[in-house]
Amino acid sequence: MRMIITGKYPNLRLRRNRKTDWSRRLVRENTLSANDLILPIFLVEGINKKQSIKSMPEVYRYSIDRLAEIVDKAVSNKIPMVALFPYTNSKLKNNNGTESLNENNLVCRAIKFIKKKYKNNIGIMCDVALDPYTSHGHDGLLYKGNILNDKTVEILIKQSLLQAEMGCDVISPSDMMDGRIGEIRKNLEKHNFKDVQILSYAVKYASSFYGPFRNAVGSQNLLKGDKKTYQMDYSNNLEAIREVALDIKEGADMVMVKPGMPYLDIIKTVKDNFKIPVLAYQVSGEYSLIYNGIKKNLIDKRTILEVLIGFKRAGANAVITYFANEVARDLK
Ligand code: PBG
Repeated sequence: MRMIITGKYPNLRLRRNRKTDWSRRLVRENTLSANDLILPIFLVEGINKKQSIKSMPEVYRYSIDRLAEIVDKAVSNKIPMVALFPYTNSKLKNNNGTESLNENNLVCRAIKFIKKKYKNNIGIMCDVALDPYTSHGHDGLLYKGNILNDKTVEILIKQSLLQAEMGCDVISPSDMMDGRIGEIRKNLEKHNFKDVQILSYAVKYASSFYGPFRNAVGSQNLLKGDKKTYQMDYSNNLEAIREVALDIKEGADMVMVKPGMPYLDIIKTVKDNFKIPVLAYQVSGEYSLIYNGIKKNLIDKRTILEVLIGFKRAGANAVITYFANEVARDLK
């Protein structure tokens, strides 16, 4: 893009357009609305539970009978989609994460509950990965210290089909196995789930910012080692283009960049290179940092909006954020 600047100071004064609120609104290049927000929800087994999470202040785990409390808010705030994450009882976890394929697991019951009650008034996205279900906390099958790619993909296909059957709208593989988008797409087609969308966690970095989330889903103390053999090295940006290119070719409808704030350059790179919806995930560590900063009066509440607009400016179509309900309410 070429910059065309005609004239110079004092004829040219960029401050003129900033003089009043109405003028700033008039020339504003990016905005945020409830349409740009996706709300993650944590699920827990049991009755009448709204459980606080040590690592994530004011975020809760809901039992299914209390799920309506938070989904009602999302619907009335006009948030387009929720993302479901289960806290799985440790006795249901094992080496192969078989609970992921139980048609009565927490996620399956939550999908059915939400679809029945809210129909298409709100979308549902579900992670496809094994980490909430494995006793070692990894997203795939662990064999002699290695995460098995192709064997894991076989399970992810089944997990995707199960979620689609339950009524999940958007399948979101967050596991970073090679080739899984193509395999999942092929099988969705084959089983007549032609309209189920795939949101690929295409560019997911091995990040310390996920710490509070792992506490929220109960995998933190289980995780053996790190996820560096499948999640991306945070020193890389060109590799992000390859990941996205592959996932688009394999049939992704939308792609995600994750984490968010330290990776705005990646969002922009993806947006500049591909004409596909790009979503950003403002992850748990980002949430807790900002939340605690506000609580301690180190920064004020408007920081949240500033950061979310930053995602839009970088090129994100929407942001997954634990602040979604609060922000959408304030925007009303
Ligand atoms: C699981 C998954 C993770 C997050 C979303 N899905 C954690 C991980 O990969 O270890 C992180 C979300 C957050 O930190 O808010 N595959």
